[in-house]
Amino acid sequence: MDFQRILDDITAELRPRAGQAGAVATYIPALARVPADRFGIALHTGDGERAAAGDCDEPFSIQSVSKVFSLTLAMRHVGEALWQRIGREPSGDPFNSLVQLEHEQGQPRNPFINAGAIAVADRLLSHGQGKPALLALMTSLCGEAVHFDDEVAASEAATGFRNVAMANFMKSFGKLDQPVAEVLDLYFHQCAIRMSCRQLACAAGYLCRDGAHPVEPGVAVITERQARRINALMLTCGTYDAAGEFAFRIGLPCKSGVGGGIVAVVPDRLTLCVWSPALDRTGNSLLGMQALEMFASRTGLSIF
Ligand code: DON
Repeated sequence: MDFQRILDDITAELRPRAGQAGAVATYIPALARVPADRFGIALHTGDGERAAAGDCDEPFSIQSVSKVFSLTLAMRHVGEALWQRIGREPSGDPFNSLVQLEHEQGQPRNPFINAGAIAVADRLLSHGQGKPALLALMTSLCGEAVHFDDEVAASEAATGFRNVAMANFMKSFGKLDQPVAEVLDLYFHQCAIRMSCRQLACAAGYLCRDGAHPVEPGVAVITERQARRINALMLTCGTYDAAGEFAFRIGLPCKSGVGGGIVAVVPDRLTLCVWSPALDRTGNSLLGMQALEMFASRTGLSIF
C-alpha cells in the first residue's frame, strides 16, 4: 500500500477546509491562539515504514492524548491493582462530567475521562512515577526530546476548576492517596506536553506491536495483553461521548485531545496521528475525524 500517496491525497482534500467549521478550544489563551487552518497527519508502521503530510512536524498541545501514555506507565508500574480504583466502561458523558462520580462513590468510569486520568496520576505518584518519568517515557518512545509547555500547564492550573472539583470529590471518597495539589500538578502537566503528529505516530507504535518499543529493538514497553487492553479502552472510551460514532465511522481504537490531535491504532499494522485544531461539540478534531474516516475507507484498514 502506498501510504505516502494516501496521506498526500487526504491532506490535499482536507487541508483547504481546515478552520472552516468547528472551533478551536478557547478555555485557555495558549490554545485559543493556535491557528485553525492547520492540518497534519503521520503514520508509522509496525515494521518501521513512515509517511507524513501537511503540518506533520508542527508541535501542538497533546492534551488528553497524554492519557494513553500515563495509562501505559501506570499499567507498567501498578499492574492489575490499578483497576481497583478505575473502571473500564464508557461513560457516554463529556470528558469533564462530574455526574457519575457521586453515584459511583468517586470511582471514575474509565482512565480516559478527566476523573479517570486524575486517578491514574494519583496511582503513578504512589509508585514514584511523576513528571520526569512521563517525559522520559515520551522521549524514549519517539526518540526525540519531549517537553512540557509551561504556559499551558500554568493556564490549566489557573482555570481547571472542574478538575480541582473532581479531584477533591474523589479524595473525599478516599479514592486518591496523594495530596490533591500534587495529583493535579501531574495531570495539568501531562495535558501540556507538546508533540508533533510525526512524534506521536511513532510514540504510540507499541500499541500496534503487541507492546514492543517502537524504536528500540528487543525492548518491551508493556506486555502484549496490556497493549491489547489499551486498544480496547481506546475503542470504547477514547473519544468520550463520541466513542460510538468513532467506532461506527472509523472502526479503529482512537484517543483524542482538545488540542485537536487524535492518535489511532490499526492493531498489528500501524499507528496514525492526525492534527487539526478546530473541534466539534464533543471536543474531537472535526477534520481529524474526517481524515481517519477517509484513511479507513481508502485502505480498508479497520478492525471490523
Ligand atoms: O483537563 C481538561 O479538561 C483539559 N486539559 C482538556 C483535556 C482534554 O483534552 C479532554 N479531551 N478531549
